[in-house]
Amino acid sequence: MSVTVLLLLVTLCVQGGYGEEREEVQRPGHVSVVIVGGTGDLAKKYLWQGFFQLYINQVSSGNTFSFYGGGLSPADKATPLLFEILKAVSCSKDVSQERCALLKDQFLRLSQYRQLKTLEDYQDLAEHIKKQLQQEGMTEAGRLFYLSVPAFAYADIADKINNSCRPASGAWLRVVLEKPFGHDFRSAQVLASQLGSSLKDEEMYRIDHYLGKQVVTKILPFRIENKRFLDPIWNKQHIERVEIVLKETLDVKGRIPFYDQYGVIRDVLQNHLTEVMTLLTMRLPVNLSSSEEVLQNKLHIFSSLLPLEKNQAVIGPVPSHTNICSSANKQSCLCVSAVLAHIDQAQYEDVPILLISGKMLDERVGYARILFKNDIFCLQNHNSIHCKPKQIVFYFGHGSLQYPAILVSKNLFKPVLTDSEWKEVTEHTDVSVLGLSLSDYYVQTPTEQREAYTELISHIFAGRKNSFISTENLLASWGLWTPLLSTLSSSFPRIYPGGADNGDLLDVRLKGKDIRFNSEVVIISPDQMGSTSAGGFQVMQGKFRSADMVSAWAEELVERLAADIEELAEAAVRESGVFHLALSGGSSPLALFHRLALHHFSFPWRNTHVWMVDERCVPLTELESNFYTLHNHLLQHVRIPYYNIHPMPVQLNHRLCVEEDGGAQLYETEISKWVNGSSFHFVLLGVGYDSHTASLFPGTKVKEFGESLVALTESPVKPHQRMSLTFSAINRAQRVALLVMGKGKHELITQLSRVKDDPEKWPVTGVKPTNGRLVWYMDYDALLG
Ligand code: BG6
Repeated sequence: MSVTVLLLLVTLCVQGGYGEEREEVQRPGHVSVVIVGGTGDLAKKYLWQGFFQLYINQVSSGNTFSFYGGGLSPADKATPLLFEILKAVSCSKDVSQERCALLKDQFLRLSQYRQLKTLEDYQDLAEHIKKQLQQEGMTEAGRLFYLSVPAFAYADIADKINNSCRPASGAWLRVVLEKPFGHDFRSAQVLASQLGSSLKDEEMYRIDHYLGKQVVTKILPFRIENKRFLDPIWNKQHIERVEIVLKETLDVKGRIPFYDQYGVIRDVLQNHLTEVMTLLTMRLPVNLSSSEEVLQNKLHIFSSLLPLEKNQAVIGPVPSHTNICSSANKQSCLCVSAVLAHIDQAQYEDVPILLISGKMLDERVGYARILFKNDIFCLQNHNSIHCKPKQIVFYFGHGSLQYPAILVSKNLFKPVLTDSEWKEVTEHTDVSVLGLSLSDYYVQTPTEQREAYTELISHIFAGRKNSFISTENLLASWGLWTPLLSTLSSSFPRIYPGGADNGDLLDVRLKGKDIRFNSEVVIISPDQMGSTSAGGFQVMQGKFRSADMVSAWAEELVERLAADIEELAEAAVRESGVFHLALSGGSSPLALFHRLALHHFSFPWRNTHVWMVDERCVPLTELESNFYTLHNHLLQHVRIPYYNIHPMPVQLNHRLCVEEDGGAQLYETEISKWVNGSSFHFVLLGVGYDSHTASLFPGTKVKEFGESLVALTESPVKPHQRMSLTFSAINRAQRVALLVMGKGKHELITQLSRVKDDPEKWPVTGVKPTNGRLVWYMDYDALLG
């Protein structure tokens, strides 16, 4: 049934990425290719096409082939399926239609389906191959098993191959494996040792399909060809940073069980992006075709990488995934991650290497960019090339450019082009790539685009080991990523909506050796998801103790509060010409004071009256005085008329807070005189660890204050004597804000969410504006602990 093609060549020379490359000398003969999982998705999409291309390339090489699609299903069911797949393979443009039809026909006749389930199935296959070789008098060159099956089946299949399918001596055995190769260092080690008991290291070909992408295979040859330009600038003095990016638009739907266990770091960063990083930074091999040298140089980079700490990564799941995040394994559900790596070598010291990948982003694109420092300041002609970013971009594909390319900004150098499989692009479409229009680059692209799998299949056949992941390489990579994965289990992920709606939510900022999201916005504890309703992704809105609640990270929260106060102030001034604002002491409002003073320049201070919610019975000029703090942090920085400022009269007749001096009554009279109906427009309150608010502490007999607006009170902590607005004054207000910040308040917030109103025990529960509105402003630390 097989067609035998004459043996012609003894040595194969492939013009790969780098012209000098010479492949392992191998004996031509018959090659049996077995795709285990031969009717699966990967096989259907890439593998059969790759093997058809191999067949075309080898047709006159002296090698002959048989192709087997293997699977668990019986042959009668799966054979038609396999042939449907095989019929879809195609030839490259340079093959004529007639020739293509002939080649396809041969390829189909060389192929068959075989059930590969039990050891006997594998033994039968071996028997079949043996007979075929004998019948046709062929010498066996080798057997190639491509395991396109879930990783848990590897060890068992490898064992079966080892026991029954090894070729006779003199012929090679190659077993190809797809990631995942474990999910951390330990599991990778276990899998490696299981496989190691059946297969020799040189027989294993671990695929990382990024190593087959044309641009990626060209990184080392490009660095070598352009050594004289790159040597002076490929270092910390010149490189601003390195970015290795894979953005995708797809969700992980359909792969949820996989993502539940793996997440984007394991799926993409640990392998594809890490491999690209090593190619960009490793010492150039003297002999590019020496797998050992390439591997050694790669390993050297791994050993020089600084450990990845928790602050060097940010992570996020998409909302559709948050229920998965509530599982114990929450870091693995992540769909986006940005990680900052550093190499501890003099050449790259402090050069940030950003690895970033995510699903459900705005576009599909992959690239590695080396951004160089540009110390030229252009005063006038900003369009002149020397004012523009200096960069080299290894563009893997998709995105605005749509084709793979290497782009060198024209303010760097004109790259050398010696490889006949690459050409220069001189006709520039109106496209911009990473901040530069295409015409600002020297652009090189492959003459013919090839799928990564097709490329790698030809490398497997040629025995080019440096396009694959060796055990040492794999373990070195897991050694880098495993500790980070463990520390991330305690990180809060940022939830993002997906697509264009992400806006700048996922922008990251590099700070020294750390990385963080640029905007300090919502990172909701997964455990809280669903118990609060999200109103936008920056600030969450909900209910707390049946009042409104606004929650965000501290910075965002304070800005929201400042903006709300300003809005109310403007409305009040428009309506009545004046705004009455009562402010609390304590440390929580300090950030608000700064925000108001430094960012809200149009706040109507001229028409604002500032009142005190409470005061400590100390001279106003003392550090402990609330007024002193208010003055230092806010009042002295804004243009508020002196006569609009109303400190509490705690010091009268040269003494502090003496009942007979009537300070509280004086303040009350002042309020009644200035504030319409004694109803402040805005009262800002805090809440203490014991739930006190204003200077109303647990145990204060609040009922005894009757209708009074101001009272002298006692604090359990020094200074004990206080003057405070009463609930009568507070609850007359039009708007009351309760600002709660910091992890330390979380326990209190948890209790408050359960207790009934009892102002003498839990004073803050006495805040219930009669006609106004109460809003809790709570940061995530306080809300979620
Ligand atoms: C795969 C990952 O290895 O690479 C996928 O499992 C990812 O999640 C894919 O989408 C990206 O490959 P490419 O070739 O589309 O950039």
